[in-house]
Amino acid sequence: MPKKYDGDTKKITELITRAGEKARRETKGAPEPGLTKPINWPVSCTVGPGLEGAIACESKIGYVNGTKGWLIYRGYDIFDLCAHSNFEEVSYLLLHGNLPTESQFKEYKQKLTKYRNLNKTMRFFMNYPVEKMNAMSALRIGSHLMRHELTYADTASYKHDESRIISSDEDSIAMETKPMGEKNAIYGFKRNKAIKKLKDISSGLQSATGIESCYHLISGVATVAAAVSRLLEGKLPIEPDPELSHAANLLYMMTGRKPTPLEERIMDVSLILHADHGMNASTFASMVVASTLSDIYFSVGAGIAALNGPLHGGANEYVLYTLQEIEKPENVKKWVKSALKNKKKIMGFGHRVYKSYDPRARVLAPLAKYLAQKDPESQALFNTARALEKEVSVAFGAKKKIFPNVDFYSGIVYSCLNIPPEMFTTIFAVSRVSGWTARVLEYLENNRIFRPRAMYTGAFDRKVVSMGRRK
Ligand code: SDX
Repeated sequence: MPKKYDGDTKKITELITRAGEKARRETKGAPEPGLTKPINWPVSCTVGPGLEGAIACESKIGYVNGTKGWLIYRGYDIFDLCAHSNFEEVSYLLLHGNLPTESQFKEYKQKLTKYRNLNKTMRFFMNYPVEKMNAMSALRIGSHLMRHELTYADTASYKHDESRIISSDEDSIAMETKPMGEKNAIYGFKRNKAIKKLKDISSGLQSATGIESCYHLISGVATVAAAVSRLLEGKLPIEPDPELSHAANLLYMMTGRKPTPLEERIMDVSLILHADHGMNASTFASMVVASTLSDIYFSVGAGIAALNGPLHGGANEYVLYTLQEIEKPENVKKWVKSALKNKKKIMGFGHRVYKSYDPRARVLAPLAKYLAQKDPESQALFNTARALEKEVSVAFGAKKKIFPNVDFYSGIVYSCLNIPPEMFTTIFAVSRVSGWTARVLEYLENNRIFRPRAMYTGAFDRKVVSMGRRK
């Protein structure tokens, strides 16, 4: 049963505005940004393990000031965008550099509506045992199927050669009984001529590298994510509703129920908050793949793979499990003590860049609080989260500057929207696909293949000895 909320969306805007004002007050005295100008390559910087401090490229897309706790997309403050914009506008902004005019917005929305329908991709997708898969793994497969469907089969004028189609009755194919390799190969697929033809196609979706592919992915990954959610629950995917916004469609396609304005607004804000974040691991992974002149679908697949890890986007799911494990605020002290003793990483805390409070957590915390008060179970989760935040701040805060990050409160927000924990990271991906695609396109304008190096610390002068003499 959906949880009932009677609050209105104006209250959400008010909470965001207040969070923004508080952030400005608290970070007023923090140092100004050091390096925000174009640089003359090669650049000198101090690089730590995990490429800490390394400058990999220039970008006009987004700016994170970790000391001040600022997050800016294309010059707009994140609090302002959350209060007065929506995900469609923000994804357009990230890709194109400006907020859309009325006509640009209309055209963009029409494209998103068109690309949200993935009927053919879904047919392929449902052949996979999605119900037994990890949600992010399924999302990655789905995003790749979007590529194959639209870049190959749809655009190439090829017909099936029926004589070459293998019968669905596998027993009718002689099994290879002796391992004779290539000579006796049975599945003799030929590379389809149609694929070669694609080399001539250089624009739009067909090339899988253009802006249309970005629109297709921004829109379609949400459809795939919703389908993953449904299939994991043993239900069939639901087609999008052309009348709904991106956020509302995501919720609708997951649950089969049109969201309330409040639910839609909360999801929209969450999508805005997660859209882009500097050279984070998944964005960098996407860009590395793109820099080889692979395509945007492969890049987004790499982003999804990187985001999955618990040190990155996967943390939001683990935060919820942590809170469930702690159970109630009274248990927090003991739990933190034991975590510290065992040198356990506390999910949802710490950040490579933020040495102040993550501005996204500043927005998500009051939203979580607002939603949680309507439901006793969520209220208990929120109270435990607050107690955990307090305890971790006491343990680390001033000394190590470890604060809640974006993943800490997002889980409570999603759980208040009845989204199952295994879907949390896919929701992150649904949003971040806008940042991945924007940064990939930007980087490709002046592409150079990424190729750092490792400092070799291994041995030299070793000689191969026969296996029997190896230790
Ligand atoms: C995201 O990069 C981005 O922008 C990412 C992101 C985005 O929008 O793309 O913001 C999204 O990925 C948020 C982060 C989600 N991950 C977690 O919540 C997992 C828990 N957090 C940590 O593992 C950690 O803080 C990271 C991974 C986020 C950052 O890792 P770093 O920069 O490599 O820091 P570190 O692990 O080297 O930690 C530095 C010190 C260590 O102590 P010392 O060895 O110096 O004594 O801080 C401690 C760490 O032990 N520390 C923590 C901690 N985070 C840092 N200790 C306990 N719990 C933590 N969460």
